[in-house]
Amino acid sequence: MCGIVGYIGPREAYPILINGLKRLEYRGYDSAGVALISEKDAQLNIYKTRGKVDDLEHQCASKDISGTAGIAHTRWATHGEPNDVNAHPHCSQSESLALIHNGIIENYLVLKQLLVENGYQFKGSTDTEVLVQWIEYIKVTHKVDLLHAVQIALREVVGAFAIAILEKDRPDQIVAARRGSPLAVGVGEGEFFLASDASPFVEYTNRVVYIHDDEVAVISREKPLKIVNLNDVAQTPEIKEIEMSLSQLEKGGYPHFMLKEINEQPQTLVDCIRGRINVEANNVVLSGVIDNQEKFLNAGRIIIVACGTSWHAALIGEHLIEDLCRIPVEVEYASEFRYRNPVINPGDIVIAISQSGETADTLAAIKLAKSRGAFIYGISNVVGSSIARATDSGSYIHVGPEIGVASTKAFTGQVTVLSMLALTIAQLKGTIAPDDYTRLIGELAGVPDKMEKVLKTDPQIQELSKIFTYAHNFIYLGRGYNYPAALEGALKLKEISYIHAEGYPAAEMKHGPIALIDERMPVVVIATSDSVYEKTISNIQEVKARKGRVVAIVTEGDEAVTDIADYCIEVPRTDERFAPLVSAIPLQLLAYYIAVNKGTNVDQPRNLAKSVTVE
Ligand code: F6R
Repeated sequence: MCGIVGYIGPREAYPILINGLKRLEYRGYDSAGVALISEKDAQLNIYKTRGKVDDLEHQCASKDISGTAGIAHTRWATHGEPNDVNAHPHCSQSESLALIHNGIIENYLVLKQLLVENGYQFKGSTDTEVLVQWIEYIKVTHKVDLLHAVQIALREVVGAFAIAILEKDRPDQIVAARRGSPLAVGVGEGEFFLASDASPFVEYTNRVVYIHDDEVAVISREKPLKIVNLNDVAQTPEIKEIEMSLSQLEKGGYPHFMLKEINEQPQTLVDCIRGRINVEANNVVLSGVIDNQEKFLNAGRIIIVACGTSWHAALIGEHLIEDLCRIPVEVEYASEFRYRNPVINPGDIVIAISQSGETADTLAAIKLAKSRGAFIYGISNVVGSSIARATDSGSYIHVGPEIGVASTKAFTGQVTVLSMLALTIAQLKGTIAPDDYTRLIGELAGVPDKMEKVLKTDPQIQELSKIFTYAHNFIYLGRGYNYPAALEGALKLKEISYIHAEGYPAAEMKHGPIALIDERMPVVVIATSDSVYEKTISNIQEVKARKGRVVAIVTEGDEAVTDIADYCIEVPRTDERFAPLVSAIPLQLLAYYIAVNKGTNVDQPRNLAKSVTVE
């Protein structure tokens, strides 16, 4: 939520900042702003507007955008509506400090009260404006420089933040800090970049330092990177190599990132299993599990915490682990788990799943589970993310940056890692027969080819989507492994097309939702050939008896469902455990084309953001 960018060095900052904001727009896109120290008159120029980065660029076209030090922000509103005033950067009362912020200051009202009592006035309603005034107040009352003011001020702040501050009289430095929200420093030759992730500076440097909680970084012209904690103790910067490439951040000829990412899945799955599955050697090796095999062998229970799409992947993980490893599994919404008093027994393992690795609720659930002694295993996409660092061990899904706000390739990457995790544990525990182990390894390794095949249904799905563009509601049904797939299909549709959609276990439908079914209700049923296929057919009959319009995802060569459904999309036959990997693709494409037909902003749907760093 919210993207921040900063630059200091010999180049003009504005183009770097604007391009950086465009890369970070997936994090929030309701307003944008930039602050620069002018080369012409040493003024602190701040431009900001409601709307997207394009709107900001438009506004800046006639302005003084000179300067080699600057900060910029793209916002996802938490406090205060998205308007010009509430957009960042925010300025202090004396207009000498400009600050950008990603996160939430929880005690902003208390601080604001104190500031008002001391004569400070506020233009907008954001917690961020309070923070910049608070830092200035500390700077003035303690008679200290900006770095020390930031250290002192942040000790009193409750909440999450990644901030960057530009000072009018110090064009030679930018001060930045984090707690709970991501902040990366790009280290160039005589120049530094700041951003919420490495994507804004990937073309300038391949060296990055991830700032830790309660660290303050000072990036200066001509000086080495300085990192201190809030008590002014120097910290050694740990320089890492950036793993992403520029081409991964571009659309590569596709009209939307989402379509590109849907089509990338055969390759991202190959990347995900590379070095982990070896069909010739007949093994799956997930090193995080092997390194901690005693823990997994002795686990009495596994609890999986996640949000949204990652939670749907977790439900598939529950089936896989219980089925193959005979370990009881519970799946929890991270946001609920963190606010109850969960029972965590010695020997329980908590698996946290998060594409971004920054989701605030998942991070808080990890902290709670850790404080109760659980071993935490993370499954994430973003190397070096907060969740990757907060967990005891884990596996990356290695699907490359996911930029479309609706998750696609990360979902199939998460399910693939969970499949490998279950197979690895099952083999270690001896809960899987050798023949089944060999067969399932072959099946999983064969999924990318099946995905390639199912992507060829694209024109058929595009055609089908036209029938449903103006539907107001959808129901998605599935049983067993296909139930979480149904939930995920429904989530994709509602996120990007704004059509109300509900996912349901197919058999549960008759306990309530069946009342919704009439000739206007499209019902998507995932009815691939599996152990509950016959039961699913009965559920389709129940829908047809009430004149519902059935779109069925079926296995190639299917006859029984094809006879009764109104429309069918065929997918290649696969073991039922891996069927959601294949059936995810037509569901993603259906949602995508319906949204395109409706003209919604597919990659940046309203009200959403890619990385939910607030609770
Ligand atoms: C849906 C979607 C969200 C995320 C959720 C968790 O398409 O993207 O539901 O899955 O916000 O995000 P991560 O996985 O980053 O923790």
